[in-house]
Amino acid sequence: MENPPLPLSLESRVVLVTGGARRVGKAIAIELARRGARLAIHCNSSVEAARDLCALLEERYGTDAEPFQADITEDGAAEDLVDRVTRHFARFGDADDEHVGLIDVLVNSAAVWPEKPLEEFTADDARRCYEVNTLAPLLLARTAGLRMADQPTGGVVINLGDMATAHDGSPYPGYPAYHPSKAAIPGMTRALAIELARRNRRVRVNAVLPGPVICQHLPGEPEEPESRKQHARDVALVATPEEGGYGRAEHVAHAVAMLVENPFLSGVCLPVDGGGRLA
Ligand SMILES: NC(=O)c1ccc[n+]([C@@H]2O[C@H](COP(=O)([O-])OP(=O)(O)OC[C@H]3O[C@@H](n4cnc5c(N)ncnc54)[C@H](OP(=O)(O)O)[C@@H]3O)[C@@H](O)[C@H]2O)c1
Repeated sequence: MENPPLPLSLESRVVLVTGGARRVGKAIAIELARRGARLAIHCNSSVEAARDLCALLEERYGTDAEPFQADITEDGAAEDLVDRVTRHFARFGDADDEHVGLIDVLVNSAAVWPEKPLEEFTADDARRCYEVNTLAPLLLARTAGLRMADQPTGGVVINLGDMATAHDGSPYPGYPAYHPSKAAIPGMTRALAIELARRNRRVRVNAVLPGPVICQHLPGEPEEPESRKQHARDVALVATPEEGGYGRAEHVAHAVAMLVENPFLSGVCLPVDGGGRLA
């Protein structure tokens, strides 16, 4: 009898998580390190938190983890960041390992989410959202994706969108500058999936579209207000078995890991919203 198809092993793979020092990005970094990956933890202002997370990953999972600081809206930031990450991990000599590339996975998690009423948001607010949430992930995916296309092992890009802005989602009021910037993620994901697979059929691009999730159960993350937990619970169709019943950053991280590991998934935009879009 033939063996079932194997998921892609994350063992020793080089993974870059943007916005990886805090909240959802941190949950993703922990989940992928738990599965054996080596982690580049990108941060902007949370340098201390990135260092602490790297220490935790090394201690808990015995993996290599390194912080990388960058404002991803600066000119040349994508090239510079990907260069620094590949140089750092190439030092470990795994470039000759046929199962490991110089960069194997990029997770675009960094974002801004400014609350401003429709009457008050400015063009600069909208431009900022576009620069951080749309343009930076696009440039990072192009840079990392083209390098993955040059590797026999290919690679995976995962974008973080928002279920509220999916075609069957429901954008909530108060964030008019944010929603258009995230609505671009599914289209970008599908376009890049096609572009990169044409260059190397082992490069895949997927997205996760979270509903509201709670991050306080991650190491070092503060308690969130009861009202936010209640909201996260109320907007989902289902309850999780964990205390509180709401969706957590860890549920998003689990979905990211699945999209990375399954070699037959590409161009997928996966809602992780507890069925909230149907409620
Ligand atoms: N949390 C949710 O419930 C939820 C729901 C739907 C969608 N999402 C999506 O899931 C992803 C993660 O969510 P989150 O709540 O963890 O995000 P977040 O806390 O709002 O932001 C993540 C990180 O983005 C980084 N960042 C912001 N501007 C940057 C810049 N100019 N350059 C570099 N880094 C920058 C920050 O890094 P530093 O702290 O280092 O400055 C921040 O910690 C986001 O894409 C978000 O839109 C989240």
